[in-house]
Amino acid sequence: MCTVGAVCTRRGEMRTEFDGGKTRNHVTKAPTRLWGGRFEGGPSDALARLSVSVQFDWRLAPYDLMGSRAHARVLHRAGLLTDDELDRMIGALDDLERACRSGEFRPTVADEDVHTALERGLLERLGALGGKLRAGRSRNDQVATDLRLYLRDHARQIVSRLVELETALISQAEKNLGVAAPGMTHLQHAQPVLFSHQLLAHVQPLARDVERLRDWDRRAAVSPLGSGALAGSSLPLDPQATAAELGFDAAAANSMDAVADRDFVAEFLFAAAMIGVHLSRLGEEICLWASQEFRWIEMDDTYATGSSIMPQKKNPDVAELARGKAGRLIGHLVGLLTTLKGLPLTYNRDLQEDKEGAFDAVDTLLLVLPAMSGLIATMRVNTERLEASAPDGFALATDLAELLVRRGVPFREAHEVVGHLVVWCQVHDKDFGDLTDEELAKVSPHLTPDVREVLSVEGALASRKAYGGTAPDRVREQLGELRALVDEHAAWAADSDSDA
Ligand code: ARG
Repeated sequence: MCTVGAVCTRRGEMRTEFDGGKTRNHVTKAPTRLWGGRFEGGPSDALARLSVSVQFDWRLAPYDLMGSRAHARVLHRAGLLTDDELDRMIGALDDLERACRSGEFRPTVADEDVHTALERGLLERLGALGGKLRAGRSRNDQVATDLRLYLRDHARQIVSRLVELETALISQAEKNLGVAAPGMTHLQHAQPVLFSHQLLAHVQPLARDVERLRDWDRRAAVSPLGSGALAGSSLPLDPQATAAELGFDAAAANSMDAVADRDFVAEFLFAAAMIGVHLSRLGEEICLWASQEFRWIEMDDTYATGSSIMPQKKNPDVAELARGKAGRLIGHLVGLLTTLKGLPLTYNRDLQEDKEGAFDAVDTLLLVLPAMSGLIATMRVNTERLEASAPDGFALATDLAELLVRRGVPFREAHEVVGHLVVWCQVHDKDFGDLTDEELAKVSPHLTPDVREVLSVEGALASRKAYGGTAPDRVREQLGELRALVDEHAAWAADSDSDA
């Protein structure tokens, strides 16, 4: 993946001259068009405005240039470019890349898309020779290739950012190991847990997200280049060679599928949406934890916002934005699936709609993840408050019932007995710990004084020692496993980052 990484990290330096609403899409000078031959006049303004994609697909330029270099080499090996022509072609592509990077070469509104713009740049440098590169390829296989390269690269960047968030959560779990907290179901106190167990419960889904992207990457590592418009090429090209040069594992086995397929985008968008949902659930918990009612954490000032009218406010905007952004990520997935549904084979222009959602999903994640990592890394955990509220809400009721079960009482009856005890306590405004021997015995003869042995948070935690449970030993074990997994994630992401 080295070549892919080399380009991706420079992507941001390429800028278009399009700037939102200010862009005027009028064709003002004789444009380079890739399809003018059989047409008498130029396109109408309305068509040109509808059709133009260069304002968003320009970010594919580095990947398109990579594909062009690989294609030039294949044309050369096929005897369609001389040694000298190949040298000049590669030189011009390198120069064009440099010019794109410096901003000296920019797409114009007259360039229909990134492929057109770059062909114009090549023609400006090479004259007629520039026109030889289009042999045997089409924008259909080009754009499918470019988008795969772009997404594979950015999947690695996203994984790098996920690793930072995983690490921030794991570090907090490590730092607060041993701190008990109220574990909840239905947002009601249920059973005490280690706060670290809960923090790691947010790492597990993120780890699955990384694994999902790695798994996706294996399926995305197929090169469409060489498929041409849809049927392959009559020229003696070598799709396997271009695939290898571009860091793909294989060339597409069916040229029609290769230009029609956008599963790789939809799957990527699912992975992105799932990350969004996980960030949203974590964000929601942060909002709760930081609230006056919970006071489990204190956000660092650098990751909290104030109110323009209420001087006392400290708001969890990072967490709220993370929660909010899930909506657009889910929207992009649904949007693309809707676009794909019912499309006949092979390429249709509808497919141009695949890009903006995918780009926005990447941008969104690269924006939200670092903010969430910072928020988690810098938050202060209110350990006293957590410890004190861990047994609240009769959270040890299950432990009491299970003790009775160990003593031979059927669970159904034990559940009933402890239920009565809870009501008794509520009526008399007492906690389990405040009860006298007589009061216990009054509720049930099963409630002998020694039942108090299970009425401690520490005991409750230690007893949940089966694999996956919240016992301190198990949580420590989980921490170690996750640390090792996250190291693996970091290594996978660095595979491309390292060539930047
Ligand atoms: N801008 C187009 C897209 O994103 C490129 C491919 C155009 N192909 C075509 N036959 N018009 O899909």
